[in-house]
Amino acid sequence: MRVTFNANGREVEADDVWEGESLLFMLRERLGLPGSKNACEQGECGSCTVYLDGAPVCSCLVAAGQVQDREVRTVEGLADENGLDPVQQAFVDAGAVQCGFCTPGLLVQTHDLLEREPQPSDSDIREALSGNLCRCTGYEKIMDAVRLASARKCHQSEVSQ
Ligand code: FES
Ligand code: FES
Repeated sequence: MRVTFNANGREVEADDVWEGESLLFMLRERLGLPGSKNACEQGECGSCTVYLDGAPVCSCLVAAGQVQDREVRTVEGLADENGLDPVQQAFVDAGAVQCGFCTPGLLVQTHDLLEREPQPSDSDIREALSGNLCRCTGYEKIMDAVRLASARKCHQSEVSQ
């Protein structure tokens, strides 16, 4: 089947999609968007997290055909013509990336958290990221990155007011 949808702000289509194909597979293998990672393919690790119509989902659990006429935003779509999103930059600056396999999902999930709650408490952060597993960092650098992104975003919005 053919699937047509909006990916990171542009209309795209994928042909010959099979019934059991996941959104994650279609993004990575058919559409040249390899940012979302496949670590477990069972909805357990969060490394494949993308926005679907503005809500974070595990793309390994979404059938490709389900996104017909819908909007998908991947980690590639967080950056814009001005450069990295503040969340992406904070992960770099805080040293929260080691092997990087968990990073795309954490970035999308953190982006969503800060859209909903610009100044999250540590427990808000832990709860929001509880579905995203990282084998490398011990999570402390990730917590630092989210705090840093939050502080920078709040500073930015104060300056622009
Ligand atoms: S690859 Fe989708 S949750 Fe792990
Ligand atoms: S940086 Fe390696 S799994 Fe998180």
